[in-house]
Amino acid sequence: MNAYDELLRTIDRGEAVVGVIGLGYVGLPLAAAFHDAPSAARRIVGFDSDPKKIERLSRGEMYLKHLGDSLPKRLAAGGRFDATCDLTRIAECDAVLVCVPTPLNARNEPDLSYVLRTAESIGRVLRAGQLIVLESTTYPGTTRDEFVPAIMRAADPARGLRPGEDWFAAFSPERENPGDPAHSTHTIPKLVGGLDERSTALASRLYGRAVRHVVGVRSAEVAEAAKLLENIFRAVNIALVNEMKMTLDAMGIDIWEVVRAASTKPFGFMPFYPGPGMGGHCIPVDPFYFAWRARQVGQPARFIELAGEVNVRMPRYVAERTIASLASRGISAAGARVLVLGLAYKPDIDDVRESPSFELIAMLRDAGVEVDYSDPHVAATWAGRRHDLGMKSVALSPQSLASYDAVIISTNHRGFDYEMIARHARLVVDTRDAMRDFEGMMLGRLVRA
Ligand SMILES: NC(=O)c1ccc[n+]([C@@H]2O[C@H](COP(=O)([O-])OP(=O)(O)OC[C@H]3O[C@@H](n4cnc5c(N)ncnc54)[C@H](O)[C@@H]3O)[C@@H](O)[C@H]2O)c1
Repeated sequence: MNAYDELLRTIDRGEAVVGVIGLGYVGLPLAAAFHDAPSAARRIVGFDSDPKKIERLSRGEMYLKHLGDSLPKRLAAGGRFDATCDLTRIAECDAVLVCVPTPLNARNEPDLSYVLRTAESIGRVLRAGQLIVLESTTYPGTTRDEFVPAIMRAADPARGLRPGEDWFAAFSPERENPGDPAHSTHTIPKLVGGLDERSTALASRLYGRAVRHVVGVRSAEVAEAAKLLENIFRAVNIALVNEMKMTLDAMGIDIWEVVRAASTKPFGFMPFYPGPGMGGHCIPVDPFYFAWRARQVGQPARFIELAGEVNVRMPRYVAERTIASLASRGISAAGARVLVLGLAYKPDIDDVRESPSFELIAMLRDAGVEVDYSDPHVAATWAGRRHDLGMKSVALSPQSLASYDAVIISTNHRGFDYEMIARHARLVVDTRDAMRDFEGMMLGRLVRA
């Protein structure tokens, strides 16, 4: 039997050993989806280069709160999951799903170093009959032109392993939405595009055992581009509504009322909401992946780049509005005390990646403002790629609120007591329309930004 038929049979019998490389926001729930579907895989091996994650998992401890504290215990109890730093164990796996980071470098260009390092680890132990799927978000062409060649460069030439014949490769983007109880890895439809038809078929059959609905597309490039389109769609619409916010502010019109009014149209409109900027792993990063590749092929994506510029400018707009509002009350920025509410990039989660609150705090500090923050989900800051703010969350009380010259609502966590904020803050700069219900109590103390 050839490698394809044999692997297909293994997958269809639920006997495949599935490896997941990168046990972060994407990889861990993916490993759990294969584990929790009764006949999706014989065993699941989780790989991560961070020994702390592996140790914590093996102690039954959770490091991603939104997935629930019981997940590591559930994985351990099944007896079909183990986690390791030892990447040579990739050789055990029939299918390998790669969920490593794809960040930007200092010049806002794609940083494929994690993907390429992983490709090298796979190549070193590659054997016939393996299916390798890249899940990390990236620009069209990465799987075929970068990932697969990097695997081949590291593979033993003496074994003569041919992609599409002896081993198979595909791209299948992740569509995680951390903190969203309505959608899970199991229920979100999964796009799959292979290097060739057989790779698409194998990957579709594999995911079909753990995910409710799999959508096969013509190529890896279509799947890569579709993922970017999904996120660029959001980035561009958020930029549009952010730009309208700034223009409407200048006209004295409330953007939130305008969005609500437009949303009553039952077709052809989808509401997007303004905010202090873009956050999270995807929306601020992915448009740059596409724009970089667009410039390479001589077709610059001007619209997308402009959306990025507008969104990147938003923390500055909020900082400037805050400083102007203080000045109009006779308070100069230098020495003013400001409390930023919410460090996570969206409500009710602890994820601070690319959060605009960090930019906002840094800009206010540059202007001489003394800044504190409060976030029930983030007790203290730590050194990140761009910022090391060295701050600890401040507890909210009538006294603490009243001690600041201004309070900025950057993230509208449900855990905040907005009525207490309305009663006791001297000035509230609201970027999320969180104070709508308390407007009447706040005459002259509420600014939207
Ligand atoms: N977080 C999301 O909501 C989301 C949604 C859709 C797509 N994505 C994409 O999925 C990919 C992964 O994102 P994430 O949010 O899960 O990142 P993450 O940082 O949470 O997890 C990545 C994990 O990979 C590990 N890792 C890095 N290099 C490794 C290597 N060489 N070998 C083994 N492990 C390695 C890291 O230690 C980390 O645990 C990215 O491309 C991202 O754009 C993320």
